[in-house]
Amino acid sequence: MEKNWNQEYKSKWNERYQSEKFAYGKEPNQFFKHWILKLNPGKILLPADGEGRNGVFAAKNNWDVTAFDISEKGKEKALKLAQEFNVKIDYLVGEIDSLHLKQNSFDAIALIYAHVASDKKSDFHQSLNSLLKPDGIVIFEAFSKNHIYFNAKNPKVGGPKDLDLLFSKEEIKQDFKNYDILFLEEKEIELSEGEFHNGKGFVIRFVGKKR
Ligand SMILES: C[S@@+](CC[C@H](N)C(=O)[O-])C[C@H]1O[C@@H](n2cnc3c(N)ncnc32)[C@H](O)[C@@H]1O
Repeated sequence: MEKNWNQEYKSKWNERYQSEKFAYGKEPNQFFKHWILKLNPGKILLPADGEGRNGVFAAKNNWDVTAFDISEKGKEKALKLAQEFNVKIDYLVGEIDSLHLKQNSFDAIALIYAHVASDKKSDFHQSLNSLLKPDGIVIFEAFSKNHIYFNAKNPKVGGPKDLDLLFSKEEIKQDFKNYDILFLEEKEIELSEGEFHNGKGFVIRFVGKKR
């Protein structure tokens, strides 16, 4: 039963990435760009990196990039983008627990619209937590639960229509309770990211440092 559901989710993303165009554009997410440029480059992990706009931007800025996603098509597009900018990224396909990434090995993890299935959300963050070094940084932006009204008004802004896939500040504080909060806000923003994130949206933005 669960396997079929996973398969469906994966097919949805592979289908979205079929087009020649980049679904969320080739430019990095603005919040990610702002914060990553403040940090000294090291090893970064980008879970759910899709077509690689953020992973490739990090590589262009001298980060040693590991990215992963459930979508093979996402990987294909990301490697194409990396080639276009003449950088290298290590891009794995699969679910986090099947990838056997090294514990305490990353200096930063960036979760940008990493809307994984609702029953996996919290475990996903816990698994990632163990991969980050102490003093490592998490950069997070994703749609908040209040986004559901924005999406209903303007479907072009994108985002999950299922409340359980969206985030609250409380969930973030709970999932990252062993972190010093460097930044946390829930905010209405104007998105202009490729074909699928356009218009007003409501997001959670978080930057935390692992204790
Ligand atoms: C809205 S897209 C965001 C892509 C990318 N982070 C960006 O901002 O351009 C969500 C991504 O999450 C991926 N995804 C969903 N569930 C996942 C999981 N359990 N593990 C890894 N990736 C997953 C999808 O394949 C999709 O590429």
